[in-house]
Amino acid sequence: MIEEEMNLEKCITTRRTIHDFIPDRSVDKDVVKAAIAAACWAPNHHLTEPWRFLLLGRETISDICELNKEMLTETKGIEKAEHKYKRWMEIPGWLIVTCQKSDDDVRYQEDYASCCCAIQNLMLILWQQGIGTKWSTGPVTFDERFYDLAWINKDMENVVGLIWYGYPADTPQTVRKPLQQVLTELP
Ligand SMILES: Cc1cc2nc3c(=O)[nH]c(=O)nc-3n(C[C@H](O)[C@H](O)[C@H](O)COP(=O)(O)O)c2cc1C
Repeated sequence: MIEEEMNLEKCITTRRTIHDFIPDRSVDKDVVKAAIAAACWAPNHHLTEPWRFLLLGRETISDICELNKEMLTETKGIEKAEHKYKRWMEIPGWLIVTCQKSDDDVRYQEDYASCCCAIQNLMLILWQQGIGTKWSTGPVTFDERFYDLAWINKDMENVVGLIWYGYPADTPQTVRKPLQQVLTELP
């Protein structure tokens, strides 16, 4: 059976943050690269194109998992750290999205907004092809050692997100507020 392509609204509303991926089913790198190329068509003020995408190989992934284990061991203990290490090592696809820094606050705010649009584009394009993502941030992505492991210059760029991707083992459900709670119509 030929699967019908999802329309945009369905793609947006059915996309969920995926916490569990099928561990040994990797995504074709060309599919990810094509999604990144399309994601860059996000709106960006003054055409700054402030984003950078880093596709991680197993060596870097392993280093980041080790760093996270080290950090978690200090804060939550060895058992939780090792559990997370094992889970993270099984995640098939890893990429990092950064935003160029700026001394101008308005410009940085706008650039950051553009990077977020690009990430959403990327997640939707993948989702349309049955590939799930999880946008993640936390102590490890803010840590200087994370920047070093990914060869990111902290003076030039900020990490906007660590994006995990792969085929979903499970698609969770979530909710949104009803329209009347978020919409104000002005005269
Ligand atoms: C900037 C940003 C950071 C996020 N960081 C995390 C994270 O660290 N852990 C997590 O479980 N989800 C994270 N998420 C995903 C949100 O939890 C998720 O989008 C939200 O629960 C709504 O679910 P949905 O994406 O399935 O609609 C992040 C989302 C954004 C936009």
